[in-house]
Amino acid sequence: MSSMETLSVALGERSYDIIVGGDLISKAGQLIAPLIAHEPVIIVTDDNVAGYHLGSLQGSLKAAGIASTVITLPAGENTKGYDGFQNLLTEILDNSPERRSTLIALGGGVIGDITGFAASVILRGIDFIQIPTTLLAQVDSSVGGKTGINTQHGKNLVGSFYQPRLVLADIGSLNTLPRRELLAGYAEVTKYGLLGDKVFFEWLEKNGEALIDGSDTLRQQAVIKSCHAKAAIVGRDEKETGDRALLNLGHTFGHALEAETGFSAKLLHGEAVAIGMMMAFDLSAQIGLCPIEDTTRVGTHLKAVGLPVQPTDIVDQKWDRVALLGHMAQDKKVRDGKITFILTRGIGEAFITSDVDISDVEALLDKAIAA
Ligand SMILES: NC(=O)c1ccc[n+]([C@@H]2O[C@H](COP(=O)([O-])OP(=O)(O)OC[C@H]3O[C@@H](n4cnc5c(N)ncnc54)[C@H](O)[C@@H]3O)[C@@H](O)[C@H]2O)c1
Ligand SMILES: [Zn+2]
Repeated sequence: MSSMETLSVALGERSYDIIVGGDLISKAGQLIAPLIAHEPVIIVTDDNVAGYHLGSLQGSLKAAGIASTVITLPAGENTKGYDGFQNLLTEILDNSPERRSTLIALGGGVIGDITGFAASVILRGIDFIQIPTTLLAQVDSSVGGKTGINTQHGKNLVGSFYQPRLVLADIGSLNTLPRRELLAGYAEVTKYGLLGDKVFFEWLEKNGEALIDGSDTLRQQAVIKSCHAKAAIVGRDEKETGDRALLNLGHTFGHALEAETGFSAKLLHGEAVAIGMMMAFDLSAQIGLCPIEDTTRVGTHLKAVGLPVQPTDIVDQKWDRVALLGHMAQDKKVRDGKITFILTRGIGEAFITSDVDISDVEALLDKAIAA
């Protein structure tokens, strides 16, 4: 395993580092110590991750002389709702936090999102540190400061932009992650290549399978590359008034698919993004924007690593065009009633547009769900 590397997210006084490395949880105490102004720090984790990585984190904090306390939430997306949020706030307040207190989110995107949101409102804002333990969280959700919870109206509709003070991405922690979760995260890795970096996509074509099969060195390289890409976009457009929307490549379609499957384990977010990216490439080819060879090539790679590429890859699911379109029209990204799409002129050449003919989208959906 190569040594650790540090990247920075440049956001003026809200700037922070992302440290990526092989065995960071056991070094977390030393790395975090300079940022801690008040003890105990409060670790928030879930009951899966606690079994694998909490002991190591607590041990390293202790060795660095940092007192800590732990809040363990049930694993899963259901935790990220009003009830889960209220429980978390109550448990944090039970620990008598001060304005200088720090939360540490140890887990995947669910723990990162709910902990970040709690940090943004407890005492009107306390510090938080991300220790992402899923590939998806390492390359996406822990970076960029979007926090939030789900409501009955949809996912992530209540939240804030609130940046962490530090992100520690421990590549070794991915070794306990189920393969399906790893693959779902890999879809978001591919996204960075597809949206703006053809050379990275070509690297993934060459190295993706070995990365998924367990190479820590390749995983580290991919996480660094992805975080660089995300940090650059967030540095330009923290609150998604422009460019940041490129990160939604595959997500307008993907969210509609997730909504239809009830955000259940039937279709993980990353799997929905893989299918959604294919649909974005298909639509782009269908309306003559993108060479069909590029669309085929994306599909070949996603299939080769074992990701689904079309809605019909999901077994026992009936799809309905009207329902899917309905979800797309409700997406957060709708502006003045127009659906925003991320389309592409080829691999690495995505762009944002709200100028898509609805009949083209209908034709694409009909084709996708009939396939
Ligand atoms: N804030 C953002 O910018 C952003 C971006 C993308 C996604 N998200 C959010 O992230 C969430 C999805 O994140 P996720 O895919 O990490 O899901 P998750 O947090 O539910 O983790 C997936 C599963 O893996 C388990 N797990 C986590 N780390 C593990 C490890 N190292 N070993 C074994 N098991 C482990 C978890 O307990 C859970 O069961 C969604 O709520 C989504 O909305 C947020
Ligand atoms: Zn995503």
